[in-house]
Amino acid sequence: MEENKVPLHVSMIMDGNGRWARLKGKERIEGHREGVESVRACTEYAIEKGIGYLSLFAFSEENWGRPDSEVSFLMELMVKAMVAELPSFMENGIRFRVLGNRERLTQELKDVIDDCMERTASNSRLNLIVFLSYSGKWDILQAAKRFAADMLADSAGPERLNDTGIGDFEKYLVTAGIPDPDLIVRTSGEKRMSNYLLWQGAYSEFYFTDVLWPDFRKGEFQKALDSYALRERRYGKVFK
Ligand code: IPE
Ligand code: IPE
Ligand code: MG
Repeated sequence: MEENKVPLHVSMIMDGNGRWARLKGKERIEGHREGVESVRACTEYAIEKGIGYLSLFAFSEENWGRPDSEVSFLMELMVKAMVAELPSFMENGIRFRVLGNRERLTQELKDVIDDCMERTASNSRLNLIVFLSYSGKWDILQAAKRFAADMLADSAGPERLNDTGIGDFEKYLVTAGIPDPDLIVRTSGEKRMSNYLLWQGAYSEFYFTDVLWPDFRKGEFQKALDSYALRERRYGKVFK
């Protein structure tokens, strides 16, 4: 169990911002605003604990179906948070990436994302990954399309297709090169994947807590890590 102690990649389904706000008699957006503070706290703690990858589900493809005012607030919040955090990414050696379907993002948002990704590309202390406009099914489909296009363009395509293994295909997912999450945390009491890392989460450990995302800070993060440290990951095999 020793090797389990600190997960290499922790992923968070940050849920419950709206309920947090309602409980406080505030607008939903106030929950999102407060949620950014939890992101900051968890990022600091990930560095403290020597976690290599912290990924965050910030906005799903399905979340485009929310009221326009909430969607535009969230997109604006992303821009502001990235601009505000860039100096701290550089100071703390954080490599920052945003992954997802960029089609519906504004040019301003795409520019800020590209700028943050380029500037932090050679940092290596912590990989901080935000999944924005992401869904697991979308990711698998875009990978399949790009894979098929490569096969069709290659005269040796049919042969290569026969030899294609899992590792060859997953290079086409947006997470190429990023290790699969060891631990997926979901806050707010919901116990579902909500179309998150369907492929990459195949063998992840799950930690569910009733705590709402804006209240998920270092102490709650530590509880998730404590729970993970006790897990026995068997990958289908038989261990004593
Ligand atoms: C998570 O909080 C943030 C996003 C999905 C963008 P919610 O906004 O889903 O909060 P609840 O689930 O309504 O409380
Ligand atoms: C999942 O939360 C998506 C994110 C945390 C970004 P939702 O609040 O959108 O999920 P459902 O609708 O309750 O499944
Ligand atoms: Mg929710």
